[in-house]
Amino acid sequence: MAKQEDLFKNVISHAKEYGYIFASSEIYDGLSAVYDYGQNGAELKKNIREYWWKSMVQLHQNIVGIDASILMHPKTWKASGHVDAFNDPLIDNKDSKKRYRADVLVEDYAEKLLQKAQKEIDKAKKRFGDAFNEEEFVSTNDRVIRYLSQRKEILERLGRSLTNEDLVDVKALIEELEIADPDTGSKNWTDVRQFNLMFGTKMGASADTSSDLYLRPETAQGIFVNFSNVQKTGRMKIPFGIAQTGKAFRNEIVARQFIFRMREFEQMEMQFFVRPGEELKWYEHWKETRLKWHYSLNLGEENYRFHDHDKLAHYANAAADIEFNFPFGFKELEGIHSRTDFDLKAHEEHSGKKLRFFDPELNENYVPYVVETSIGLDRMFLAVLSSSLKDETLEDGSSRTVLKLPAILAPTKAAILPLVKKDGLPELAQEIIDELKWNFKVQYDEKDAIGRRYRRQDAAGTPLCITVDHDSLQDKSVTVRYRDTMIQKRVLISELASIIDAEVNFKKWMGNS
Ligand code: GAP
Repeated sequence: MAKQEDLFKNVISHAKEYGYIFASSEIYDGLSAVYDYGQNGAELKKNIREYWWKSMVQLHQNIVGIDASILMHPKTWKASGHVDAFNDPLIDNKDSKKRYRADVLVEDYAEKLLQKAQKEIDKAKKRFGDAFNEEEFVSTNDRVIRYLSQRKEILERLGRSLTNEDLVDVKALIEELEIADPDTGSKNWTDVRQFNLMFGTKMGASADTSSDLYLRPETAQGIFVNFSNVQKTGRMKIPFGIAQTGKAFRNEIVARQFIFRMREFEQMEMQFFVRPGEELKWYEHWKETRLKWHYSLNLGEENYRFHDHDKLAHYANAAADIEFNFPFGFKELEGIHSRTDFDLKAHEEHSGKKLRFFDPELNENYVPYVVETSIGLDRMFLAVLSSSLKDETLEDGSSRTVLKLPAILAPTKAAILPLVKKDGLPELAQEIIDELKWNFKVQYDEKDAIGRRYRRQDAAGTPLCITVDHDSLQDKSVTVRYRDTMIQKRVLISELASIIDAEVNFKKWMGNS
């Protein structure tokens, strides 16, 4: 655990040192759970967004993208259920005065039971070697059975209590499990209360005429209210999707894990409109498609798992998270939700406008069902950053810190390095930049010895270094060094564009998934 905490601390300090993430308004000591993206962070974030957008919108003829506003008519949030039901159950510790999400305390307890079961499995695996039959062991070992069934019971009870809004039982569960304040060990808890997560704001200049608005807590509603606009103007036929990326705001109670849980964050969401009755087929389709998208980035398939929801949101008839193995354990990265016709129907009722589709094949008019894919851009950023940061010991015994970002996402694709700052090498390096910059984000770096410059680019995540030396002036060739393998190759300057393209080509990455 200590090792995991160290790893997370390293990620946070590396993110700052290399211009990825800064605390918001840091000179005023920051603003809790709000962050700014620096010069490299903004590029990485843009590249993740683009990778998502291209794979959802550009690769699907039946998905289009929109950009709806953050401020929406206040009735939107009444219709969507956010005014009445977008609550987190919170609990305070009377001794430490710290506030927690009651459901997260219980979920963390359940996660520990899973870890205990896994420990038993790993021990047995080591003991029995090749002869080990995991399935048989899991179904027969008393301890593993006990841990897993206890975990299941706890999560099912939590799910039931939350669905029934039985907060007394949530507190009873915390007390029965003897869950203590993770920071202080105190078990002196208040009752569990609901807390609405939406940020309110005002529109208009005068106090009398201004109206109360909310900053959107999800981008999805901007898609639902535009359903008919897009369907009609785009002549979309079901099944079809509407995608969008953009900021969302939530007044999170517990926001401690860096950019994992922020108060201002960005979502990448897609609502897929389908025939009623076909939603579960599409739900399975999107679960599989989204997992493949994640796998395409090569962050390690073992770092992902599905978590099917026991507690369904008020609008869903099926829901699963894609969880990622963050430095603090497996946590939700993306949600796939079968939202039924809840949202469109609710907006019909509250607006008085029809939000329907005439299906020529069925000769029928209906409110479509919706399958949603919803991923936090900042969470994806953290998944990419934390799994890419490595400390390596090299063959000669020296060590290096390297950020093995997927090349397609890396902020800078290649650094152009003149071996020395004279003899015409900087000028040739600049000529190379002037040629490459039209297609790739490249960077000039002439400071320090070449070895130090390689290490700096490794740590910043740049996949390729291109070194210009005295021979380059004669034979128009340069040395290309690959970040991950550190292999160096002599190539012609005229080949550079295709060498970089081979590393960052969208089809190469997504096409194989
Ligand atoms: N439209 C459905 C929806 O908003 P959600 O599970 O509440 O569902 C979707 O959020 C995704 O948004 C999550 O899987 C997570 O990646 C991201 N997300 C949610 N709250 C967040 C927060 N406070 N900070 C960063 N990302 C967040």
